Amino acid sequence: MLGARGGWQALRRCASLPRAVRLRVRQALGAREPADAVRVQGWVRSVRSQKEVLFLHINDGSSLESLQVVADPSLEKRDLTFGSAVEVQGKLVKSPHRMQNMELQAEAIRVVGPCDIWSFPLKMKERHPLEYVRQFPHLRCRNNTLGALLRIRSEATAAIHSFFQDNGYVHIHTPIITSNDCEGAGELFQIETPGEAKESAKKTHFFNVPAFLTVSGQLHLEVMAGAFTHVFTFGPTFRAENSQSRRHLAEFYMVEAELSFTESLQDIMQVMEDLFKTVTSTVLSKCPRDVELFHKYIASAQKGRLEQMLKHKFMIISYSEAVEILKQAPQTFTFKPEWGCDLQTEHEKYLVNHCGDVPVFVVNYPYDLKPFYMRDNEDGPQHTVAAVDLLVPGVGELCGGSLREERLPFLESRLQRLGLTDSYQWYLDLRKFGSVPHGGFGMGFERYLQYILGVDNIKDVIPFPRFSHSCLL
Ligand code: 4AD
Ligand code: MG
Repeated sequence: MLGARGGWQALRRCASLPRAVRLRVRQALGAREPADAVRVQGWVRSVRSQKEVLFLHINDGSSLESLQVVADPSLEKRDLTFGSAVEVQGKLVKSPHRMQNMELQAEAIRVVGPCDIWSFPLKMKERHPLEYVRQFPHLRCRNNTLGALLRIRSEATAAIHSFFQDNGYVHIHTPIITSNDCEGAGELFQIETPGEAKESAKKTHFFNVPAFLTVSGQLHLEVMAGAFTHVFTFGPTFRAENSQSRRHLAEFYMVEAELSFTESLQDIMQVMEDLFKTVTSTVLSKCPRDVELFHKYIASAQKGRLEQMLKHKFMIISYSEAVEILKQAPQTFTFKPEWGCDLQTEHEKYLVNHCGDVPVFVVNYPYDLKPFYMRDNEDGPQHTVAAVDLLVPGVGELCGGSLREERLPFLESRLQRLGLTDSYQWYLDLRKFGSVPHGGFGMGFERYLQYILGVDNIKDVIPFPRFSHSCLL
């Protein structure tokens, strides 16, 4: 059988076609000038056969729009169907249609990989709901919505890196396998070899100590913040919490930043807000058509909300004020709001709505609610730490951050009370050798995408519905 290259060479010999320049669909659509010999590869999104002419639409993932191919009906083949992989060679010409700039006049069409349309779960011209394509995690990237999402995800990732690099942050690859439970919430996945799992009673460990998948890169960033004033990390993060919810994943991506010589939460909030607005503006300008698809078909009110959000400063309220607002709410909550209790999703929703459906920072949470590393505000009798959560409409908590306890005696006594002194000797060292006031935050990348695109279920903003309860791809 001929390989792709061999196939083309044979084709060129037979049809005496000139050597063609290979173009991506995006390049072909954006071309300014017609070109005589081009070659486009991709998957067929539609086939329309008329008496005089055959129309195809080819998509290769480079843009939401497909390239129209116009061909003589003699080029039609039995296996040239929706979903098949093809190579088309021909002339790129100005399109007579108002909606598109260029089209390809085919001189040769080769079906590289046929597709059985009867068993292929995606159907031509159907707008498949997200719930439907979720059942086919290995095929759903061929659908417009998931294609758009993956391009947006890629642009947003690049924009996050650019934001930090442009502002002088050093990117740190924090470890994925670690022995610390940064958040102290016990939502850890432990790592063991199959042998260890069988012989768990013997308590032998591959690394000699129990090892886990990271729940946050923060503590490792804090190490680096002892030598670099601005650091960030952006990587996979794992939490063994209920992934049945619409905003929790077992594996997600977190962007985290740590700033040294920082004494106020205000500085941390400013970076959160700048990051959020800069990345969102970049995504809106780099993938307008992809974002438009979500704002048109998935969440029609989201476009206006984002425009408002970009124009205005985010609000700031204290945890104590938040509890007062909730107590005075005309509605009853499943969880009664009480000072000292965690804010539940229903509370977060109410607060954001109460503040006018804009992002809201909630600051200064009760000391006992938050992890050991947060800085004691030394206030009373309602004793708080310098913590901040950013709540956004429709999603709830998007970012969590704090000033860190940089004072050795405070940290020592807190770790002692928690019985953690031995495991955190290295962390205490950071406070013994050149300790500075510092702080940082983490932003959930999938929740960020959920918010800007208005997607209800977090499983629809990831490339693969990873180890969630419904799918083990
Ligand atoms: O609020 P969290 O737990 O904060 C931290 O881990 C800090 N150590 C970060 C730091 O200061 N460097 O998590 C940060 C964000 C949350 O606000 C949320 O957006 C996201 O991570 N997140 C999740 N996203 C999806 N699925 C989950 N299970 C998540 N858990 C947290
Ligand atoms: Mg949090």
